[in-house]
Parts: sequence; structure tokens; C-alpha cells
Amino acid sequence: MTTVLVTGGVGFIGSHVTAELLCRGRAVRVPDNFSTGSRENLAAVGGEVELVEGDVRSHERTHAAQGARCVIHLAPHPRRRAPRRTR
Ligand SMILES: NC(=O)c1ccc[n+]([C@@H]2O[C@H](COP(=O)([O-])OP(=O)(O)OC[C@H]3O[C@@H](n4cnc5c(N)ncnc54)[C@H](O)[C@@H]3O)[C@@H](O)[C@H]2O)c1
Repeated sequence: MTTVLVTGGVGFIGSHVTAELLCRGRAVRVPDNFSTGSRENLAAVGGEVELVEGDVRSHERTHAAQGARCVIHLAPHPRRRAPRRTR
């Protein structure tokens, strides 16, 4: 079975993407740090999803990508600083 990694998969968009992938017979692994997302978003499909709690930027979480055929990246990037204006 194809495993798809959905970063931010307990978030608003990610939870819908995850549910759809499961409907289509994919195995789904979700790394998420729960900073804005909630387990409740996956309550209906919870048991079928492999949750990996932690920050996707963390070296300790790189194992989450092992064996995944595809990555859907929905964990937002940290805000970039606006460039300083110069006169
Ligand atoms: N919702 C919109 O209208 C919209 C529009 C355009 C683009 N986007 C982009 O789509 C993506 C998802 O948006 P959303 O509305 O579902 O946001 P959301 O906040 O509901 O979901 C983001 C998920 O990523 C998780 N997350 C955040 N930082 C993380 C990290 N460092 N490591 C692991 N998990 C992390 C959060 O816990 C959350 O579950 C974002 O990148 C957002 O910028 C959203």
C-alpha cells in the first residue's frame, strides 16, 4: 500500500486531505506538532492514521519520511522577516 506523508495533517486543510487519501485506500502518516491543529480534526478517522508528534524541522522526526512514496507539505513555513527598508 502506498504511504503518503501529510505534514500538518491535523490542521484545517491537512485533515481533509488525510480523510480523502484514506477514502482512496492510501496509508497516511501525519507528522504534526499540534501548534494550531487538533486531534479532533481527525476524530472520525483517528485510528487509521499514523500520527508522529513533533516539529517537522526536528532532526529526530526525519524518520517519519521513511518509506513514504509522496509528501504533501501543509505544515506552514515559519514567517520570514520582511526585508529592512533602506533609504
Ligand atoms: N487555510 C487557508 O485558507 C490557506 C490559504 C492559502 C494557503 N494556506 C496554507 O496551507 C497550509 C495549511 O493551512 P491550514 O489552514 O490547514 O493551517 P492550520 O494551522 O489549520 O494547519 C497547519 C498544521 O500544521 C501544523 N504545524 C505547524 N507548524 C508545524 C511544524 N513546524 N511541524 C509540524 N507541524 C506543524 C499545525 O499544528 C497544524 O496542524 C499552510 O501552509 C497555509 O499557509 C492556507
